[in-house]
Amino acid sequence: MGSISLIGFMGSGKSSVGKEISKLLPGMEFIDLDDYIEAMTGMSIPEIFEKQGEAAFRAMEQEALEIIFMTNELTGEDCILSLGGGTVTTEACRRMIRRNTTCFYLKASVDTLVHNLETWPGDRPMLKTGKDLRSRVEELMASRSKLYESTAHHVIDVDSNDYTAAAVDIVTSID
Ligand code: S3P
Repeated sequence: MGSISLIGFMGSGKSSVGKEISKLLPGMEFIDLDDYIEAMTGMSIPEIFEKQGEAAFRAMEQEALEIIFMTNELTGEDCILSLGGGTVTTEACRRMIRRNTTCFYLKASVDTLVHNLETWPGDRPMLKTGKDLRSRVEELMASRSKLYESTAHHVIDVDSNDYTAAAVDIVTSID
């Protein structure tokens, strides 16, 4: 079947949809790239941003993807990969994602993203700018939406917040 990756803005539901897909495809390993980096470095994502900055974090995302895809190639195993909202800002990551996975963009409107990020704020360094949440989401989306669109093989609308339906759509589209 090949590996499946999920891209999209913070709060679009990548981890939730990834977990739903892994219920449908129990033989495939589910990897959340943020969790992988935290395990790899022994630091939390906010700690990495605070101590080493965004550029160092982007390099870690790239290194983690290189390891994941190399391991998949060696073992012949596929995985379900939930990426970070900004992974696509690195060109090498975009290339690896397209080459090694069938990539799905979980596309949500700014309204949905703001709603989700207000409901489940988490600890997200990229949103801690002092700007109001909506302006920051709009600002980041202005530079990222074309990267999501050009990296993905398929676009899945997640404005309904129905993550089970999104997972079923994804699995049936690759069967
Ligand atoms: C980021 C998104 C986060 C995490 C980091 C940076 C971004 O992941 O990788 O805080 O630049 O959009 P989620 O999209 O899972 O929140």
